[in-house]
Amino acid sequence: MTSWWHGGIGYEIYPRSFADSNNDGIGDINGIKGRLPYLSWLGIDAIWIAPFYESPGLDHGYDVSDYRAINPIHGTLADFDELIADAHARDIRVIVDIVPNHSSSEHRWFQQALQGRDNPYRDYYLWRDPAPDGGPPNNWVSHFGGPAWTLDEASGQYYCHLFLPEQPDLNWSNPALREEFDDILRFWCDRGADGFRIDVAHGLVKDAQFRDNPQRVPIQDPGNPTEVFGAFEHLYDMDQDGTVDVYRRWNRVVEPYEAVLIGESNPRSLDRVARYVRGDSLHTVFYLEPGWMHWKPADLLEKLEAVHRSTDTGISWVIDNHDNSRSATRFGGGDVGRGRSLAVMTFMMALGGFPFLWEGQELGLADAEVDAGNLEDPIATRNEHGVGRDATRTVMPWDSSHANGFSESAEPWLPSALRGPAETVAVQRDDRSSWLSKHRDLIKVRRTHPDLWGATPQWLETPPGAVRALRRGSMLALANWKPDRFAIDLPPGVWTIVYHSASTDTGDVSGTFDMAPESTYLMVAST
Ligand code: GLC
Ligand code: CA
Repeated sequence: MTSWWHGGIGYEIYPRSFADSNNDGIGDINGIKGRLPYLSWLGIDAIWIAPFYESPGLDHGYDVSDYRAINPIHGTLADFDELIADAHARDIRVIVDIVPNHSSSEHRWFQQALQGRDNPYRDYYLWRDPAPDGGPPNNWVSHFGGPAWTLDEASGQYYCHLFLPEQPDLNWSNPALREEFDDILRFWCDRGADGFRIDVAHGLVKDAQFRDNPQRVPIQDPGNPTEVFGAFEHLYDMDQDGTVDVYRRWNRVVEPYEAVLIGESNPRSLDRVARYVRGDSLHTVFYLEPGWMHWKPADLLEKLEAVHRSTDTGISWVIDNHDNSRSATRFGGGDVGRGRSLAVMTFMMALGGFPFLWEGQELGLADAEVDAGNLEDPIATRNEHGVGRDATRTVMPWDSSHANGFSESAEPWLPSALRGPAETVAVQRDDRSSWLSKHRDLIKVRRTHPDLWGATPQWLETPPGAVRALRRGSMLALANWKPDRFAIDLPPGVWTIVYHSASTDTGDVSGTFDMAPESTYLMVAST
């Protein structure tokens, strides 16, 4: 059966930074609602909204204190209902972000769990006795710095947290917890949500014996939590085989609603990515590596091909999200970086699955400048050398008015240097050659040529390095990400260029085709 999301394109919204409707400096649900006309003009099929639930906000919403309530800084349930209705009227689906790996420490479940070992909610979380020396029970570390364990002095036990101490990890071996989440999923589906982006989807189940993770490499800088986390092989804290069973259960819960399940996944190796999308569990997973890689085109293409060969429909392709430096910056900066970013996105449009853009990616936005005193991300504020995620999370530049049109007169929650007119929606919208127009054209091309994502994929032979050719029925996607031109032998027949990431070239080609550098072509067989 073909589901609504097949062939679709999603768009990630960080609610704090997208649009502020009531002028308090924080983006909100009504702000998103007000920008739906822009999103339908852009042509996307679905929005994924990062968490808007009740939350102390220490990880900006990824610390949920009530999974069924909206944080008043973002609006009300009534606002949400209206957003859904308006989005659906425009054929835009709404995907909400569910955070099942951990709750906020202010969640009622954790507050109960703190009452003592006999409390019925104790077992909603992961508690262990101290190691013989009184220290943490094993060597697991938090993504956000320090050990993954904090001592609860009242009970003398440690609790596990793969993120902040204020984000205690939930115990997915507890059947009662599994039932709670079934109900939470139904709650949002009943309100009209069309799917879930599942935060840290690979993290839920932990090793039953809580064994130490092997350390792969020595740690150079203990003050950089990302480096410390990466120094370990995450054999026991992440990506456990049993996690997929949770999603088989979720699949049955959401099936009657035709809701899509999209996991945030960072498995231990490429060959483990497809395990999450076996047909009866998640529908797609984000394959995150291109979101933090620097410009290594041959390496990137090799990975994309390997992951795509393991599943054609099961990946949500992304190069940008709210957790990483923006691709335009990461891939080299300026128009060079922007061009590379578009070349990658263009190729991803031929890889099947359900690709996503991150707000502002369509404008070719670079990382913003945020003064050290204004940093918000705990990775930066709680560590000596943590590289925080604020530079990608600044407000969306709509126009050149106050705060780039994000808010009428309030200071944005995350102040940053204003973007120039050329970076705004207002200016790029009317310019046929802008990055925004290029992205919009690309979205249209994918919609016009369903073979691009629906026909059987066939990787054609290409020399080693940064060149690939993928044929799908009447369509051909050609990537030349080398710094020089490259002549490729086209399959027999005449091919019409329908999209080129680096120019507005169109026209018919055949035989040997001389590809421009660092770009991707989409072609259709001419009949
Ligand atoms: C995911 C989110 C990130 C968050 C973390 C903890 O990686 O994308 O923003 O900080 O999970 O919930
Ligand atoms: Ca607001």
